[in-house]
Amino acid sequence: MKSTRFQSIVAIVFSIVVRITGEQRFAETPALYQEVSSGDDVQLRCRVQDKRGQCIWQKDRKPVGMHPDKYEWASGRGSDCTLLIRRASLDFDDGYWECQVTSGDFTRQDALTSLPSRLLVRVKPRKPRLEYGGTILNSALTLRESQEATISCVSRYGNPPALIKWYIGGDEVEPLREQTNATEVDSPKTWAAHSLLRVRGQRENHGLPIRCITMHPSSIVPASAETRLDVHYSPEVRLETKPRLLVAALEDSASFMSLKCFADGNPSGTIKWFKDSAPIVVTSNVVALMLNRTQQNGTMTGSELRFEPVKRNDAGLYSCKAVNAIDGPKLKPEDPTRNDTVQKYEETTLLGTSLEPFECTDFEANPPAQYRWIHVRGGITETIENPLQTKDGGKRLRLENVMWSDEGEYRCVAFNVINGVRREMPSEARYVLHVTGPPEIQARPSSSGGKGIYESLGWAGEPEHTLKSRFCSRPPPRLVAWQWGSESIHPKYEALSLEHINEDDMPTNCYWAKLVIKDLQIEDARIYTLLVESEKGRDSTNIKLIIRDPTEMRVIAAAAAVGLLFVLLLISIAVYSGLRLKNRRYRREEEEGSIAADAFYSNTPTTDRQKNGNSSQSKGYARKTNSDGGLAVTYDYDQITKQMRAMSPEALKVRRAPAVLQPPTIV
Ligand SMILES: *[C@@H]1O[C@H](CO)[C@@H](O)[C@H](O)[C@H]1NC(C)=O
Ligand SMILES: *[C@@H]1O[C@H](CO)[C@@H](O)[C@H](O)[C@H]1NC(C)=O
Ligand SMILES: *[C@@H]1O[C@H](CO)[C@@H](O)[C@H](O)[C@H]1NC(C)=O
Ligand SMILES: *[C@@H]1O[C@H](CO)[C@@H](O)[C@H](O)[C@H]1NC(C)=O
Repeated sequence: MKSTRFQSIVAIVFSIVVRITGEQRFAETPALYQEVSSGDDVQLRCRVQDKRGQCIWQKDRKPVGMHPDKYEWASGRGSDCTLLIRRASLDFDDGYWECQVTSGDFTRQDALTSLPSRLLVRVKPRKPRLEYGGTILNSALTLRESQEATISCVSRYGNPPALIKWYIGGDEVEPLREQTNATEVDSPKTWAAHSLLRVRGQRENHGLPIRCITMHPSSIVPASAETRLDVHYSPEVRLETKPRLLVAALEDSASFMSLKCFADGNPSGTIKWFKDSAPIVVTSNVVALMLNRTQQNGTMTGSELRFEPVKRNDAGLYSCKAVNAIDGPKLKPEDPTRNDTVQKYEETTLLGTSLEPFECTDFEANPPAQYRWIHVRGGITETIENPLQTKDGGKRLRLENVMWSDEGEYRCVAFNVINGVRREMPSEARYVLHVTGPPEIQARPSSSGGKGIYESLGWAGEPEHTLKSRFCSRPPPRLVAWQWGSESIHPKYEALSLEHINEDDMPTNCYWAKLVIKDLQIEDARIYTLLVESEKGRDSTNIKLIIRDPTEMRVIAAAAAVGLLFVLLLISIAVYSGLRLKNRRYRREEEEGSIAADAFYSNTPTTDRQKNGNSSQSKGYARKTNSDGGLAVTYDYDQITKQMRAMSPEALKVRRAPAVLQPPTIV
């Protein structure tokens, strides 16, 4: 106290001296940098010695007038020019301030100005945000093992810019580079701070939080944004046996034994057991009771194989394998020296055999590719069931008991399922299967009639009616004949030459056999038999030709034109006349007695055969024995005698004397 009084006395004395000689000068100038929180009061200090002029404040090079309750002198009058800013605001007060003093006398030229003083009004930034690939990262960050990703953390609208720090788990990690600070476009006095972090998928980091922490002087509590690392990695397996130590050999049918397999993978995988490198088929193993218990929790999966009890034939080398879906769909043929021309594989097999004709080209995929085989047939593609689906994912195709319908082109499609989404990639290679075997009549004309007779519908007066039937035979047939119970061959019947069937521009071993009937009459309605014979065997089918009278149709058309009222009446007429016609035809058939009854009956086995079309093996043999008969007539008589015994009483009623068959029409 004493000393200050002494100082002031000295100052007065000194001022008197200066009044004569000295100039005014700053005793204190505002700090070069100062921060204030938005809304707080702040003083910009400025004191002048030997003050003669007046105090003035400038902000950003423009004078600022005093306003009560906003800009005030901190201490009344005197030598203190300190400015008090009330309720600092970013918009009005943030900037460069200068304390100035006018000269006491214009002759003196002793005006003063301080260095610009930066006053920063602190504004709390918004909560930081994590971004990945241009979008906000609010779920987990999913990475494959050893995959790298760069994520960013943004703190916006802060003044000054926030300081960003990164943490993975509990450890601080270095950003990719120093953070960048840029003023906000829509609020140029605030800042957006960006920081980048490079993250690498490592299995030991799976599940750890990634945190971006922003520090700002406006608050002692840092703000943070957080995500979680989801690292996808392939499983690692561990095998446990129980009992743990197999000191003595296990006793047949007495010892209990359990194998446990644990796999750590993300996503948790499925465990497969192998015995001596072959997959274990639990269902087929009736000797050992095996329990399969799969527990799933997080990334651990477990599976237990139980032997209750152990049997002698369970001895072997057991292994377990876990698979999960971790990789993107990279289904690519492995062979880089692939030929631009499409690969084509051809295979020829006998009807009725089982074989594994084709293997799909290699594909690269994780999880390993599975294969789907498609049969391309007449423009229709259908996925076929592959018995080897469980082995190598069905890479090899197996066909059991090959039929004619198995002929043709196959394609394979590799696929895998990733996170429940199935991805497919077709192979470009073409696989063609040829079948050899005795003839088989396949596509039976029109829909089957009620009694298993195949029908063809014609109209009386039709200039040409064609009966057609599809059959397959390799080697090609020796004899193709149409037969019907008529004594003479009228020139109105003409068997067309065989038509080779192509499917997808490839000749098959199948043909169309066609019989053209010119000037169709009611009398032509009967059952026609097609016989196909090759050195390997023979096959036959019956087609019932039904002929309708078109005049009835014309009447109906006319009636429709006359009026709607008559329609009902006419329909009843049509129904009536339909009934009458049926009776009439039936009568005529009886009169003619020309139904090849034998053919009619032999139809039954044909139908049956088609129904259980799978038994082509036995079928093939049956045909072979039959073919020894040589002459069609002999063959048909054999059939009659055979059928007699097997016939139902009902069929007997319709039976008539065997018709005289005509010699086969050779095509
Ligand atoms: C960005 O702002 C932070 C915090 O204010 C500061 O530590 C850092 O140096 C600034 N970085 C640059 C490049 O200006
Ligand atoms: C155990 O069950 C899972 C599904 O429940 C199955 O995928 C796996 O093949 C089974 N393992 C054995 C050895 O049967
Ligand atoms: C899995 O389950 C076990 C107990 O069954 C538990 O101790 C463990 O924490 C679980 N792990 C996860 C990742 O949930
Ligand atoms: C492509 O394959 C075809 C037959 O598979 C072969 O004749 C041709 O030489 C091959 N071309 C090249 C460039 O390898």
